Amino acid sequence: MNEPRPPRKLSYHTASVRQAFLTRLPDALTGGALRARHVAQPIEIAEMCFASERWPRDFDGLRIAHLSDLHFGHLLGETRLMQAIDAVRAVRADLVAITGDLVDHSAREAPVLFERLALITARLGVFVVLGNHDHLDHPRAIVRGARDAGLVPLVDDSVRAGGRDGLLVAGIDWAKTIPACSARLRRCGAGRADLLLAHNPKAFVAAEERGIPLTLAGHTHGGQVARRRNRRHNLVFTQRLSAGHYEVRDSHLYVTNGVGAWFPLRVNCPPEIAVIEMRAR
Ligand SMILES: [Fe+2]
Repeated sequence: MNEPRPPRKLSYHTASVRQAFLTRLPDALTGGALRARHVAQPIEIAEMCFASERWPRDFDGLRIAHLSDLHFGHLLGETRLMQAIDAVRAVRADLVAITGDLVDHSAREAPVLFERLALITARLGVFVVLGNHDHLDHPRAIVRGARDAGLVPLVDDSVRAGGRDGLLVAGIDWAKTIPACSARLRRCGAGRADLLLAHNPKAFVAAEERGIPLTLAGHTHGGQVARRRNRRHNLVFTQRLSAGHYEVRDSHLYVTNGVGAWFPLRVNCPPEIAVIEMRAR
């Protein structure tokens, strides 16, 4: 964690102001009740199974635990972090995917975070991509912390999980728009990956065009406030791919609600860890 700290950007200071007014102030005004209620919600284990003709037969039945948007910091402290980690470990997945926003704001707490995340292991590895919040303060410290903890950070890169003939896992760094996601995916240089990890669900547009059978994303937190009967009717109405499962031409996207948040309110949108079984059709 000895990376030279870059000068703090405007986005860091903007996030500081937003956190003060939208997170810390409401929490203080309610005597800590908002935060307490927020972290008291059980973390749901959302199990699902998708099938694709493009999924490699050698990995038929692979189980992936998908953890996202911890936002480690003021709203999500060590106790809640350990609840999430214990839940992931209990799943005993073949591969673990962590799709960004590991920290909420400052990277100062990253050493504690990665000391705990190092407890997660999986047969094919634990893969990490960064989210927009990881870029607020010190993204290189997050990448280094992940690597030192035995996780595999993917910054516009791809690796074979499980050896030379392993599953081709690609991961792109935070990108805001569809063209930016697409450019990052091209940089991965992986040909057609089997699995894409991206913080932004918009990456699915390029992933589907390339025929990548499974994309995992977070970022939207499932909209945080959703209609009970239709989780896609939620507060993130500006984003088409906001929550849950999408399938286009044999390519799948799962957008998880994630575990944490930067605003302490969730309605019909529980914190979750997704467990996805992939089948070769
Ligand atoms: Fe997030």
